[in-house]
Amino acid sequence: APVQPPDLSKCHPATDDETKQPVNCCPPYSTASVVDFVPPSHSEGIRVRKPAHELNTEDVEKFKEAIAKMKALPDDDPWSFNQQATIHCTYCNGAFDQAGIEPPVLLQIHGSWLFLPWHRCYLYFWEKILGKLIGDPTFAIPFWNWDAPEGMHMPKIYLGNSSPLYNDNRDKNHYESVFDYKYAYNDPNPTSPSQVDKVIRENLCQVDRMYKETIRNPELFMGKALRAGQSVPTNASGSLENLHNSVHQWSGPPESPYYDMGNFHTAARDPLFFGHHANIDRMWDLYNNFRGHRPEFKDPDWLEASFIFYDENRQVVKVKVKDCLTSHQLRYAYSPEKLPWMNSGL
Ligand code: C2O
Repeated sequence: APVQPPDLSKCHPATDDETKQPVNCCPPYSTASVVDFVPPSHSEGIRVRKPAHELNTEDVEKFKEAIAKMKALPDDDPWSFNQQATIHCTYCNGAFDQAGIEPPVLLQIHGSWLFLPWHRCYLYFWEKILGKLIGDPTFAIPFWNWDAPEGMHMPKIYLGNSSPLYNDNRDKNHYESVFDYKYAYNDPNPTSPSQVDKVIRENLCQVDRMYKETIRNPELFMGKALRAGQSVPTNASGSLENLHNSVHQWSGPPESPYYDMGNFHTAARDPLFFGHHANIDRMWDLYNNFRGHRPEFKDPDWLEASFIFYDENRQVVKVKVKDCLTSHQLRYAYSPEKLPWMNSGL
C-alpha cells in the first residue's frame, strides 16, 4: 500500500541525526482539517524559475522582499520562515510515525522514491506562499545551477551578509571556491587553474554519467520503492539524491553538528537550501523530459503515496505523488539552460 500522511495529532519529538538529541519539529496545526490538494488550473500562467547566477536586479529584490516578509512573520505562523524550515525536520528526522502502522514505523521521505516528489511539493508551496506575501502570483524561486560551470559556486545573491538570503552557518572557506562534487569535509579548495578545470570537467562527467546510467531504470535515478509499513531500506536512495547530499555537505560548515545545511534537522533554515533543491527538482524535470514525460513508476504505491502541506491559502492539503509528476502540472517551468555536461563523458 502507499505511504499515507501522518496523523497530525500524534506528533512526537524528532531526533537530530548528528547529535542524537531530541528536537521539537511538530507543526503548529495538530487539529487542522485536511482537504485534497487541487492542482492549479490550466488558465494559470507558468512561473519560470531562473538560475540564481543570472537573476536581474529586479528579480533579486523581489526574492529578497519575499523572504524578508516570510522572516518577519511570528514563529508559530505556518507561513513563517522558521515554520517552513521546520517542515523539513518533521519529515526527515522522524516527528511522525506512518499512520495506522503497528508497531510504529517512522515517517521518512529521504532515501527512497518519495524523495523527489516530496521535495517538489515542499518547494511548490514555499514558492506559492512567497508569491502570496508579495502579492505576485507569477513569482518563481531561483535555482542554483550547480551543474553548469558558471554555477559551480555559491551564488552571489546568497552571500551579502546583510541580505535576508544570507545565512552565517556555512563553510566560509567555500565562498570563493569552485564546488567539487567529490568534496569530503576539510578537503582543501582546488586553487590552480588546472585543478579548477579538472574539478569542473569531472563534475560535468559525473552528471552526464548519472543520466546515462539511469535513463532506462528510474529506480537508480529516483530511489527504490518505499511502501506503507516499511522503514527506509539501506542503499535505496537514487543517484540524484546521493549527488544532492554532497551539495549539502559542501555548503554547510565542516564541524559537527554541521548546522545548517549539513544537517537535515536544520538544512532548510538556509535560503540556499531552496536554490539547491530547485536544481535537484530541475534535474528530475530533465530526466522526465528525456524519457518522454512518462511517469517514472506506474506502481500505485508510488502514484497514490501522499503528503501533507500548509498551502498558500492557509489550508492544510493532502497532495499525492500523481499530482506532481511534472512541473507542468504545477504550472511552473525551468528556464531552458545549456546542458554543458551532455555527452561530456564520451
Ligand atoms: Cu530533504 Cu536536501 O534534503
